[in-house]
Amino acid sequence: MGKFLKHILISESQIKQRVKQLGAQLSSDYKDKDLVIICVLKGAIVFLADLLRELSIPVELDFVKLSSYGNNAESSGVVQIIQNITSDIQHKDVLIVEDIVDTGTTLSSLKEFLLSQKPSSLKICTLLDKPARRVKSITIEYVGFEIPNCFVVGYGLDYNEKHRNLPYIAVSDTDS
Ligand code: IMP
Ligand code: MG
Repeated sequence: MGKFLKHILISESQIKQRVKQLGAQLSSDYKDKDLVIICVLKGAIVFLADLLRELSIPVELDFVKLSSYGNNAESSGVVQIIQNITSDIQHKDVLIVEDIVDTGTTLSSLKEFLLSQKPSSLKICTLLDKPARRVKSITIEYVGFEIPNCFVVGYGLDYNEKHRNLPYIAVSDTDS
């Protein structure tokens, strides 16, 4: 596995099973709704791609790219939209799909921004949740896995833009 990675925290099969469950849950909760999924780039794309194929309902897709000033492993608190959505979400049921909620800064800021566009509903689905690090309190309706306070990579998540391609979630050495 190389020097950088410590150990696998969540295996490929665990992820697959959980994503299937989430897909079934969302398909039921959003049945007969006008669902727009907004994927937060780049980290959430792997999760999104798998989750989408577990949905049995029609869905619109959009993407947003956010940046927070600061280094790669730490969120600075200042969130900037660097790529906006292109769809009109007014009166739509919007679901944000994110890779991980850490301090909560990124998503609380995105949530505020999207709410100003008057969607019918706005919920969050995150693959990972690190509640021990929360600074901004935020409601998350769908969580794949709750994880301890460690830095993880893989399945879309990066460290310095690397390791997104790993099919599992691993704890990285930057944590130690
Ligand atoms: P927040 O604003 O502190 O919730 O930070 C969220 C963003 O920080 C995520 O979308 C990730 O890009 C990044 N992040 C936080 N924790 C990790 C981690 O353990 N591995 C990789 N990226 C992380
Ligand atoms: Mg992210």
